[in-house]
Amino acid sequence: MSNSPRPVAVVTGASSGIGAVYADRLAARGYDLLLVARRADRLEALSARLAEAHGGSVAVLAADLTKEDDLARVEQALAGNPAISLLVNNAGNAKLAPLAQTSVAEASTMIALNITSLMRLTQSVLPGFVARNAGTIINIGSVLSLHALPTSGVYSGTKGFVLNFSRSLQAELAGTGVKVQLVLPAATATELWDLAGVPLAGLKPATVMSAEDMVDAALAGLDQGEAITIPPVEDIALWAAYDAARAALFAATRTGKPASRYTG
Ligand SMILES: NC(=O)c1ccc[n+]([C@@H]2O[C@H](COP(=O)([O-])OP(=O)(O)OC[C@H]3O[C@@H](n4cnc5c(N)ncnc54)[C@H](OP(=O)(O)O)[C@@H]3O)[C@@H](O)[C@H]2O)c1
Repeated sequence: MSNSPRPVAVVTGASSGIGAVYADRLAARGYDLLLVARRADRLEALSARLAEAHGGSVAVLAADLTKEDDLARVEQALAGNPAISLLVNNAGNAKLAPLAQTSVAEASTMIALNITSLMRLTQSVLPGFVARNAGTIINIGSVLSLHALPTSGVYSGTKGFVLNFSRSLQAELAGTGVKVQLVLPAATATELWDLAGVPLAGLKPATVMSAEDMVDAALAGLDQGEAITIPPVEDIALWAAYDAARAALFAATRTGKPASRYTG
């Protein structure tokens, strides 16, 4: 990694889509980068382009984050680098199909990438961030953490993990210098859709955001200190109402006895 004084940002899933735009925007903001994904050729091409455009160091770590050896290698690289001040947990994949038409391997891959790798990479940087009382983790969830389609049981489940994991971490780290931003993109024009088995071309164009707009809005939300950013939602009071209803429902569970409708 670089010996320069610039802070280092790690972006997982930087070889395409949202992650590639984060890499570009963070390089423009003066970060050195460590880019992670499987496709080394794409990462190398992006690294050359960003170094040329923005200067600084753009390192590449080709890794399959669903494979134990590769994940452990990335964990070690992150845990051992105190210059890292920003982690974008972006790598994710989706298979959108009824469960009976989803293989165990496809479901397990979603869980390994969207849940396990996000959790473990967070754990790899967090002790250093806490010790330095500084650092930012951006977790890319999805609006499908708030809404389960008939075809999104496993994907929505994995993004539900990202939501609850991030909200819990935010509570744990409240009052410290360590920040966790949860970003919930809605439909975004990336390769994810075709890979998910739902061609992007089949979505209503008016409902699809560009990856550039999604990332620019998410970074604007980060700059504004938002804990949760849902880029397309105009009336953000809707989130506050949703979260208040969730908190009220949770509070209503603390009675220690069955509700009267069950006891006659
Ligand atoms: N697009 C949307 O509509 C949308 C909506 C809500 C949330 N999201 C979330 O946004 C994030 C980024 O997705 P995207 O839309 O930008 O899709 P994308 O273009 O398909 O990008 C996914 C990235 O993850 C990497 N990746 C996939 N499998 C991997 C593995 N096993 N190990 C390491 N890296 C892996 C891919 O690189 P390699 O193939 O080179 O490994 C790629 O860089 C995901 O978490 C996704 O769930 C997307």
